[in-house]
Amino acid sequence: MIWKDKVAVVTGAGGTLCSEIAVMLAGKGMKTVLIGRTAEKLEATAKKIRAKGGACRIEAGDVNDEEAISAIAQKTAAEWGPCRVLVNGAGGNNIKALTTLTAFDPAELSPEKPEEMRGFFDLDMELFKSVLETNTVGTVIPCRVFGRQMAEAGGGAILNFASMNTYCPLSRVPAYAMSKAAIANFTQYLAAYFAPAKIRVNAVAPGFFVNERSRKYLCTPDGGLSPRGEKVMGHTPMGRFGEAQDLLGCVEWLLDDEKAAFVTGVTIPVDGGFLSTSGI
Ligand SMILES: NC(=O)c1ccc[n+]([C@@H]2O[C@H](COP(=O)([O-])OP(=O)(O)OC[C@H]3O[C@@H](n4cnc5c(N)ncnc54)[C@H](OP(=O)(O)O)[C@@H]3O)[C@@H](O)[C@H]2O)c1
Repeated sequence: MIWKDKVAVVTGAGGTLCSEIAVMLAGKGMKTVLIGRTAEKLEATAKKIRAKGGACRIEAGDVNDEEAISAIAQKTAAEWGPCRVLVNGAGGNNIKALTTLTAFDPAELSPEKPEEMRGFFDLDMELFKSVLETNTVGTVIPCRVFGRQMAEAGGGAILNFASMNTYCPLSRVPAYAMSKAAIANFTQYLAAYFAPAKIRVNAVAPGFFVNERSRKYLCTPDGGLSPRGEKVMGHTPMGRFGEAQDLLGCVEWLLDDEKAAFVTGVTIPVDGGFLSTSGI
């Protein structure tokens, strides 16, 4: 990959992981398009990029909105050229799409069930569907829009975001888990479909990296570990949470058309060994 002056699009670029990926790509001389719904979050990433002399543009938009993403793509291509690298980092969970129960409890059938108890039957289906949509369709839409530019330009590389849930669902997060399983499947599908267009499609599956949302589940307000955080740590041989920097080597390699020239359709865990142990 000759990175310099090529266009990289990063969705979720105001977030914990993809802000660092955007900074890394801009540092290689790529013209970086930062997409997310909140311009202020993107502005913070843009500041870091510009401080290092990199080029970027802030494009607020929702990855579920094909019209909005197409408009961004057209504007960017007209001014900067076609997208050659796409990082599909936008995604996440919603607290109301989570259960509080880890397994069925007969109490959830009772009319006197405690208000804070949320089981499978109590899930808000609209929120459930919105998590599914953002984490799946929100990857498919940028692949269609920017993949078209790559196909017209003669090739490119796409990186999707899977998770530990891709391999085996965690308790309490059924919509998120289901959507991240779908990402590995879609990555394989699209890799095969796009191979004749010289577009490689791969995914990373981060282990546990603390972000704004997951901090509430994994940590206590005083910075210690919550019971769920303790469980994660007890199952992570390297004994720590990931830092965004831990992803960069794998991401850089997967996006590099020379170093990963024959690599497509894979999902690579970056997880401190989480998947390598049964925990027993
Ligand atoms: N952190 C982890 O431990 C971990 C583990 C496995 C997988 N992942 C995956 O890695 C990716 C990045 O995670 P992260 O930890 O960096 O999360 P994050 O800090 O929450 O960042 C995600 C970003 O996506 C943006 N976003 C969400 N919905 C969007 C939409 N509909 N349209 C456009 N942008 C949207 C959000 O910004 P706005 O709200 O402003 O739009 C947010 O800045 C996600 O796909 C996540 O599921 C994370």
